[in-house]
Amino acid sequence: MAYRLIHLSDPQLVPAGQLNYDIDPQSRLRHCVDRLLQEVPESSACIITGDLTHWGEKDAYQVLKEELDRLPYPVYCLMGNHDHRQHFLEVFPDHPRQSEGFIQFSVETALVNLICLDTLDDRKRSGILCEQRLAWLQHELNASDQPVCLFMHHPPFETGLASMDRDNLINSEAFWAVLQPYKDRIRHLFFGHLHRSVSGSWQGISFSCPPSLVHQTPFDFHNPKPDYVSPEPPVYNLVDLHADRVVVHAHNFLHDSPAINSRTCQRYQKPVDPDS
Ligand SMILES: [Fe+2]
Ligand SMILES: [Fe+2]
Repeated sequence: MAYRLIHLSDPQLVPAGQLNYDIDPQSRLRHCVDRLLQEVPESSACIITGDLTHWGEKDAYQVLKEELDRLPYPVYCLMGNHDHRQHFLEVFPDHPRQSEGFIQFSVETALVNLICLDTLDDRKRSGILCEQRLAWLQHELNASDQPVCLFMHHPPFETGLASMDRDNLINSEAFWAVLQPYKDRIRHLFFGHLHRSVSGSWQGISFSCPPSLVHQTPFDFHNPKPDYVSPEPPVYNLVDLHADRVVVHAHNFLHDSPAINSRTCQRYQKPVDPDS
């Protein structure tokens, strides 16, 4: 039986009533939660890979909490470069964390351990895993023989998106040095930060990154400083972790174009439910 989780990233919340790049992030998250409740209520957890807020205000974390409290399963939050640990913990005082104050934690499931990392490097766009955080990772990898999925905000490599490649994890070599002895147990790497749907493999480890819930990075591989953001639609990733595979489904949950009847090629009319 699969362990089903929802992977969201970069909701970039701001205080209630404010806009971010002309988008209402609370409304986006509310729509997303509505669809999750309607479409995949049997999920076991939701993991949000950072940039929970855009400027790190406590009021923005309150908005996040208000929406996430509607989900009937655990929600785990990671830090991104737009986040503020202390403000987050003031609003989510019971959220798991490492004893040194980093928002790092593991979630044990029957099939796989989910190891969640904190790559926030205060006041910088790029990310880092300092010695303390890498030592904790090594301890977690050593603590069990279970397969592992890793979650983090910053990708540990360049993807070719010119405007994002300067802002990755800056010490990916040290990160890989910790991972390498355990690489056969690492089933998948989940991250965010890119504000685009990107997938592939790194060092033989498969990875996936969903778009932001709000604005997206332009599909531009040359301009390192575009003066616009893309209005491409948000996505949630539905992840099924099986004993022999990891399956990631990307769902454009705001899509509302009418369906087409596959027999008549006309606009699809939903059958009327006689009980309604
Ligand atoms: Fe972001
Ligand atoms: Fe980010």
